[in-house]
Amino acid sequence: MNEKLSSLPSPYALTTDNTELVFVKKDALWRVAHYGERSNVAADAVLLTECRYNAESFGRATLETYPSFGADYGDNDGQMGMCKYGAIQAQHADGNTTVQWRCADAWLAADEEDVEHVVFDLEDTTRPFRARQHFRAVKAADVIETWVELEHDEPAPVRLSIMDSFGLDFANIGTEFEVLSVCGQWACEAVQDSTRLARGQRIDLGSRSGVRDAWENNPAVMVSLGCPLDEDRGTVFAGALAWPGAWEISVQHTLHHILRVRAGAANLSGAYVLDAGKRLTLPKFVFTYSTQGMGGASRALHRWARGWHLPHGKVVRDVLLNSWEGAYFDFTEKTLTDMMDGTAKLGGELFVIDDGWFGRGAHARNDDTCGLGDWIWNEEKLPKGLAYLVKEANARGLKLGLWFEPEMANTASDLAEAHPDWIIREKNRPLRVGRGKSQVVLDMSNPAVRDAIFDQVDAVIRSANGLSYIKWDANADFMNAGSTYLDADHQANIWFDYTVGVMELIARLRAAHPEIVYQACSSGGAHADYGWLAYADEFWGSDNSCAQQRVFIQWGEELFYPACCVASHVTVSPNHQTHRTSPLKFRFDVAFSGRLGFELHPKGMTEEEIRFCTDAVESYKRLRTTIQQGDLYRLVSPYKNDHAALMFVSADRRKAVVCVYGMARLAMQGNPAPLHLRGLYPNLRYRITEINKAAESHIGPLEGKAFGGDALMTQGLPFTLGNEDDSLVLELTAE
Ligand code: DGJ
Repeated sequence: MNEKLSSLPSPYALTTDNTELVFVKKDALWRVAHYGERSNVAADAVLLTECRYNAESFGRATLETYPSFGADYGDNDGQMGMCKYGAIQAQHADGNTTVQWRCADAWLAADEEDVEHVVFDLEDTTRPFRARQHFRAVKAADVIETWVELEHDEPAPVRLSIMDSFGLDFANIGTEFEVLSVCGQWACEAVQDSTRLARGQRIDLGSRSGVRDAWENNPAVMVSLGCPLDEDRGTVFAGALAWPGAWEISVQHTLHHILRVRAGAANLSGAYVLDAGKRLTLPKFVFTYSTQGMGGASRALHRWARGWHLPHGKVVRDVLLNSWEGAYFDFTEKTLTDMMDGTAKLGGELFVIDDGWFGRGAHARNDDTCGLGDWIWNEEKLPKGLAYLVKEANARGLKLGLWFEPEMANTASDLAEAHPDWIIREKNRPLRVGRGKSQVVLDMSNPAVRDAIFDQVDAVIRSANGLSYIKWDANADFMNAGSTYLDADHQANIWFDYTVGVMELIARLRAAHPEIVYQACSSGGAHADYGWLAYADEFWGSDNSCAQQRVFIQWGEELFYPACCVASHVTVSPNHQTHRTSPLKFRFDVAFSGRLGFELHPKGMTEEEIRFCTDAVESYKRLRTTIQQGDLYRLVSPYKNDHAALMFVSADRRKAVVCVYGMARLAMQGNPAPLHLRGLYPNLRYRITEINKAAESHIGPLEGKAFGGDALMTQGLPFTLGNEDDSLVLELTAE
């Protein structure tokens, strides 16, 4: 619990370096008067907001910080109104279905330096039902985090049919809105699209998976405010829900140009049943306001993620080789040590053993039909044990990582056979199964399940003495919606309690082994969300490792998530998913703009290919602080052009990396327009070198020369580009 520093004066401007969220007190509640650039509006906000508030009639503004279904809209010329757009809707112990808050206290809480933390203590006016609402402004990132804790002392449970984390109506933020989100499925993550939001319309985003929460939609959104969405210009609101379960975000444009944003966990089987005395912490929603278009919004979220959210957010990431596409289930100790040899030769720093090392006897995991849930070393397949492989990796200067799928079991496993009740299932209905015709989801609401999985994973980690990395996979959705652990009255809680359980499990493992780096994988990028990224250092971008398509996938993912956590691997050609061929340089250059790795058996590479990779890995290591920790500028979108270009600029703006990828490009189209660089100091001169070169230079006579930042940003940098699959990477160094 944060200590109380002082009471909140009204009006109060909660500020970041460039933005403010202004709260004003009116009667028993606080309202949001303004969100946007820092200004001096606070003093006038009270009256201006009051007028705006009263101007609405049908579908009026609900400017309270946590609007509730059933709240009194007050007297408007003798007509009373009731709020029906609550971010919270609760049925109390006595059956009443409304909430009417009053603010018992509003205060500033102690927090870390450069973070301002406002708390509103809300209580229902007639029933012992309470909410503690937090707004935490991370100044240097221009990001505000917000979340709510709920509890009550009513004589019976309270049923929460809506329990959003965020529900603000912005009354004066714009009159025209364009909404951008990303959607996806297996091998097709983060497809970007946007639409104008007409007056009276609402857009609902969400995931109903329960596990693979970032596919259907990613839990994040951008909204242009009063202008069409633009990469560099105009004002943009961006928000992301840090919740790796079922969720919903909605954005509505009302008749009176209110922008209504709601975000929270979704209860797909009915109301969440909250028992008296239990505190329910709802997921965090984080949001930012940019005056530099979508690019500014992305950079703010990235800065916040690296500095205040991701574990090891400031630590540069290792170059790794993951065994999956190079060996699948088919490996021996010799295969793995051969791959380690190759990893070391390529300049890698970490070798990861993917699926297939565990399970015993009939349940040995040699394909996807069995073994999940039995996190026991398969000594028949790998007789010398994990400690031996850690030693072999270390002897080659490598760290070792291991794959797990802790949330899952196969019905064909020792675990599921001994504990069929540990599976998410419905009473008196046949069990539905997924991958391998036997995969099921474990009931993580049950502490006994979490303990059993913790003990197994913990024992594997301890047996190795030196494991550095865990790839945490999850390859199923909820296929059944029930729990044999939760009682009949709490069945609908499974969606929320499962997610809380999974987060508790990974938090416990992290606490026990703080040195381990985690990758959140979920059939690819289905765990690309800030809920997972509170515990996982990175996510696997997609099972689609085809470089051409990865340009789009990574483009969409890096809209909301920083490059340091987008795992991007060089794989073989033809590609295993799309059967498309592409040159090694192109595949490498695409992986270069994320957390670089490999996913192949290096024995298949020629000496020339290995030489190219070794040099390029060296360049990546030299530049990875800029790529992983720098500011991202998207220069040319693959969605609208025959090539894509992006650049990363270091925090001190003295170093930059530019990546250009030819997409559906025909050489006959001629040279692309000069590249207008961004983010540089106009007055500094930058020397330009092309790296990862496979053949001729793409910048010809400009190679090795220095140019002013202003010229590079205004006149642009001319370059040549051949057919699709041609690419270039430039290194810029300030003199
Ligand atoms: C799905 C993942 O996305 C792959 O990278 C791989 O780990 C497989 N699962 C293993 O079963």
